[in-house]
Amino acid sequence: MIIAVDGPAASGKGTIAKALARHYGLPHLDTGLLYRAVGIATAQQGGNPDDPADALKGAAFPETLLDDPAIRSETAGGLASRVSIHPAVRAALLARQRDFAAQTAGAIIDGRDIGSVIVPQADAKLFVTARTEIRAERRHREDPTDDYDAILADIRQRDERDSARSVAPLVRAADADLLDTSDLTIDAAVQRAIALVDARIRDRR
Ligand code: C5P
Repeated sequence: MIIAVDGPAASGKGTIAKALARHYGLPHLDTGLLYRAVGIATAQQGGNPDDPADALKGAAFPETLLDDPAIRSETAGGLASRVSIHPAVRAALLARQRDFAAQTAGAIIDGRDIGSVIVPQADAKLFVTARTEIRAERRHREDPTDDYDAILADIRQRDERDSARSVAPLVRAADADLLDTSDLTIDAAVQRAIALVDARIRDRR
C-alpha cells in the first residue's frame, strides 16, 4: 500500500504521515528533508540556491546531512523552497523517492508533489492543509523566540513559491482527499486521516 500525503508548511502533514506510518506499519519518507539537504549543501558549498547549476551540485549532499538538527530550521526550509524550483534538482531526487515507494512493504511519503508527480498511482492520497495564520501560530509555538510576523511572512512566501513554480507545484491531485486541520486537535486529525485512508482502501477492493 502506498499513501501520498501532500500539503503546505506546518499544515500537520508530517505529524499525520508519521502517525499513519505507525498505524499501518509502513516505512515513511519525509521528502522535505531531501530538499532541505540540497539547500543546506548548496549554501555550505558557497553556491547560490537560485542558480540551477549550483543547486544541482547540492543535490549530491552527504547522507549525514539528513540527521543534522540544522535541517529542521526555518533557514533550511527557506533554502529548500528556493532550490526546489529547479527542474534538474527535482529530477535528481526523483528516483530516490520512487525507489522508496516501490518497497514491497509499501510506503507513506509526504511532500508537495507526491500524489501528483512521484506516485500518482498511490492507493490513497491526502491533501493536508490549514489556514495560514494557524500554521504560523503552530511554528511560533514550536519556537517562541522567532518573531510571529516574520514566520507568517515566511510561510506566505513559501506557499507562493511552492504553488507558483512551473514544475511540480503544490497542488491537490484530483483524487486526493482534503483534510483541513485548522480546527482539529492532532488526535482528531490523525483519526480523520485514518478514516479517509481506510475508506479509499475499501473502495479499491
Ligand atoms: O515540508 P518541508 O517544509 O520540509 O519542505 C521544505 C521545502 O521543500 C518546501 O517549501 C518545498 O519548497 C520543498 N519541497 C518540494 N517538494 C517536496 C517536498 C518539499 O518542493 N516533495
